[in-house]
Amino acid sequence: MPAVIITGASGGLGKAIARRFAAGGWTLILPLRREMGGLAEELGEVLEGAAGRGGAVGRDDAAGRGGAVERDDAAGRGGAVERDDAAAPGALHFFQADLSRPEDIENFFDEMRRRGIQADALINNAALQNLQPLTELDAAQWDRMMAVNVRAVHLLTRLFAGLEGAQGGADGNSGGRGEGAAGNAGVRGERAGGAPGKCCGSAGRSIVNIASIEARRPAVNHSHYAASKAALVQYTRAAALELGPRNIRVNCVSPGLISRPALETDWPDGVERYRKAAALGRLVEASDVAGAVWFLCSPAAGGITGVNLPVDCGAGASPGY
Ligand SMILES: NC(=O)c1ccc[n+]([C@@H]2O[C@H](COP(=O)([O-])OP(=O)(O)OC[C@H]3O[C@@H](n4cnc5c(N)ncnc54)[C@H](OP(=O)(O)O)[C@@H]3O)[C@@H](O)[C@H]2O)c1
Repeated sequence: MPAVIITGASGGLGKAIARRFAAGGWTLILPLRREMGGLAEELGEVLEGAAGRGGAVGRDDAAGRGGAVERDDAAGRGGAVERDDAAAPGALHFFQADLSRPEDIENFFDEMRRRGIQADALINNAALQNLQPLTELDAAQWDRMMAVNVRAVHLLTRLFAGLEGAQGGADGNSGGRGEGAAGNAGVRGERAGGAPGKCCGSAGRSIVNIASIEARRPAVNHSHYAASKAALVQYTRAAALELGPRNIRVNCVSPGLISRPALETDWPDGVERYRKAAALGRLVEASDVAGAVWFLCSPAAGGITGVNLPVDCGAGASPGY
């Protein structure tokens, strides 16, 4: 079965995306910053349901039973959950990784390689979203936001695409489109490590970055967040150009305000404003966004790369006057 890396699966949207792919029978590769009690049970049930409709389920669920996501060493070499059936369909793999730490990201991929796991899709969903007025936004807070929301996406993209240590570019000046970009990670249509992509056929491997409608219309006290999401949208287009020759599609989904428990009581005026602005008259559901991500990773989206797809219930179509 195909396998997908989903960051931030402990959060509201990440979990919905994980559930969507689990329901489709995909193997889930989940780098988490901290242990998540109950997550393995929840996703395991979805995987088992999918397997009941055709295919066995393998799980390594030490991270989700309230147990620790272990680290092998002080540097945080990710994930100590051992399993023999890494290639089993519908498996669940947990890794420990703080995405603000480049060494954790490298260790996560090292550990994946060590366990013989390869990914067909990467969903960059994890993000910081804290509010900070300009008056209080110092260099450290700015850097923290950019480290998780932008730098981690770039580092994960390089590793996923097999670009680490690769030479040359896809600009046509280094051997022509497709040649310079091939680097050390195989040729068009192959996955890093050389094995042909097994899930996607001509649709290739796929990266989906979760941006936000704030990339275009920032909210108050969210300058660092809005800037990070605008950067992500443009990074998506640039990466699509360079990874196209490797048959890796790179797209972006920009959610509007996503419904979550207690949002209405925490922020009634914001919810009301959003409903009024949205053509559909409602907030976005996490499942709406998960469905768009699922589509972009599917063969049906095989000709789509470098786009930013808003999932905002039509808020972006509201008149600006
Ligand atoms: N909610 C909305 O209305 C909305 C609207 C537009 C766009 N979005 C975007 O949708 C995505 C998901 O949002 P959400 O509402 O589901 O957020 P959330 O519930 O706050 O989840 C954020 C996730 O990111 C993870 N994360 C943060 N920093 C990390 C780090 N240093 N290392 C590893 N993981 C880290 C969190 O892990 P921990 O559990 O360890 O904290 C959590 O799993 C984000 O990209 C967000 O910008 C959300």
